[in-house]
Amino acid sequence: MFTKCYAATLTGIEAILVEVETNVSPGLGMSLVGLPDNAVKESQERIRSAFMNSDVRMPGKRIIVNLAPADIKKEGSALDLSIAAAILGATEQIAQQKLTDYMIMGELSLDGTVKPIKGALPIAINAHKNGLKGIVLPISNADEAAVVEGLEVIGVTSLREFIDWMNGDIEITPHSKEMANSLAKKTPYAEDFADVKGQGYVKRALEVAVAGGHNVIMIGSPGSGKTMLARRMPTIMPPLTLDEALETTKIHSVAGKLGADMGLMTQRPFRSPHHTTSPVALVGGGSNPQPGEISLAHNGILFLDELPEFGRNILEVLRQPLEDKNIMISRAKYSIEYPANFMLVASMNPCPCGYYNHPTKDCVCSSGAVFKYINKISGPLFDRIDLHVEVVPVSFEEMSDPTPAESSATIRERVIKARQIQSERFKGLSGVHTNAMMSSSMIKEFCKLSDQCTSLLGKAMDKLNLSARAYDRIIKVARTIADLADSKEILPQHIAEAINYRSLDRANWGQQ
Ligand SMILES: Nc1ncnc2c1ncn2[C@@H]1O[C@H](COP(=O)(O)OP(=O)(O)O)[C@@H](O)[C@H]1O
Ligand SMILES: [Mg+2]
Ligand SMILES: [Zn+2]
Repeated sequence: MFTKCYAATLTGIEAILVEVETNVSPGLGMSLVGLPDNAVKESQERIRSAFMNSDVRMPGKRIIVNLAPADIKKEGSALDLSIAAAILGATEQIAQQKLTDYMIMGELSLDGTVKPIKGALPIAINAHKNGLKGIVLPISNADEAAVVEGLEVIGVTSLREFIDWMNGDIEITPHSKEMANSLAKKTPYAEDFADVKGQGYVKRALEVAVAGGHNVIMIGSPGSGKTMLARRMPTIMPPLTLDEALETTKIHSVAGKLGADMGLMTQRPFRSPHHTTSPVALVGGGSNPQPGEISLAHNGILFLDELPEFGRNILEVLRQPLEDKNIMISRAKYSIEYPANFMLVASMNPCPCGYYNHPTKDCVCSSGAVFKYINKISGPLFDRIDLHVEVVPVSFEEMSDPTPAESSATIRERVIKARQIQSERFKGLSGVHTNAMMSSSMIKEFCKLSDQCTSLLGKAMDKLNLSARAYDRIIKVARTIADLADSKEILPQHIAEAINYRSLDRANWGQQ
């Protein structure tokens, strides 16, 4: 007898519908066709064992399972449950009628337990798109799938439970969670800028960075608070839109990085890979391609703490994604794309000993050593960082000041206003949302400078010996500062502030 049921496989962060066709005829043995990889072949063994431990009969027949379309590589063990369902259907051990109403996904363990899968969210979206009534999947992935409105989500724990439900012997209450509700129930961030004493200058710089989507590097001695400040940056970014939340969740879902009971992600990601991380872990890839840290940071922040510790090869692989906001992973037969639109935040010591420009401690480095240290990160990566902010440790008095600092929520209000001005400005320019993304021609169009501003900028370039590459960056940042001040024109004070955030461009860094 012939039966069919539906499953899905992942490519990038999207799912593709897979039809699991089974035919049972006289004879013996089981074969899987349709380009299954090793994991799918192994599923035969798992299914046999799971059947045995779930009181189900493996038919003494010849079973052929075909996974269509044949030209798509199916990865992973997540097709176990649908293959088992197709076999059970073809041998009339489960009722047929639900078989094609639901997408069926899950990995089987030898004892018949249904184990979690990766990518439940894009898979559920695919089920809905293909007009299926619902999806049956591991219970721990049910919250993720329930994000999709209008799709019945049935979470199961074992093959036995699945069979009993298919046959109508037991009821399973569909998992429901309104998408709107899950966005509304925003888990507040545990951290807040109010926790950081003093540091008004740095906080302001970080507000400017977030407001304009500018990449930023903090330079300061150990213990000055760089990591603490960076961790709080997601709290002042605008809330995720529904589309952003879905896309971010999809990536984490595909990477298997969503916790159980996790529906829609409502916080912007903050990823802080260690400097010993591999290029593949950073940008993604591998033999079973997975999104890397830069994609997990999509719509959020990628924090490279202690930047000079990262190897040159690591920093090199960041160039393309920083430019294109996505990453292409190429394989012989196919290529996949993962989104990677993140804000880069980095930190570093000012010199090898860590105390250059420290208010109380002496730096023991030669000026040559300081210069060389900073230049370790020069080049293409450095070219994409708009703001350099020096972080000086707060004094004891400031640290013991009990007055609470401004909260992240208040800072965020200003950021949101500035972002709205930018949305208006770049309306109709696809792919450009923030000042940081302006091309040279857009800078000419949107950042007209008065004579006064031009002359101020020229003088500063000369006096501080700023490099030419600083020029465009200063104007972009000045545009953001003007937006924060709700000023249509870029004024001299906006230029002056932006110049302040180019410490590392000063050719005399290390020689003061
Ligand atoms: N401005 C500050 N307000 C409150 N605590 C601070 C401040 N600066 C530093 N700290 C404390 O010092 C610790 C070390 O800061 P950290 O961010 O790790 O410094 P860095 O990354 O620059 O080495 C923080 O965890 C925090 O407890
Ligand atoms: Mg640190
Ligand atoms: Zn030093």
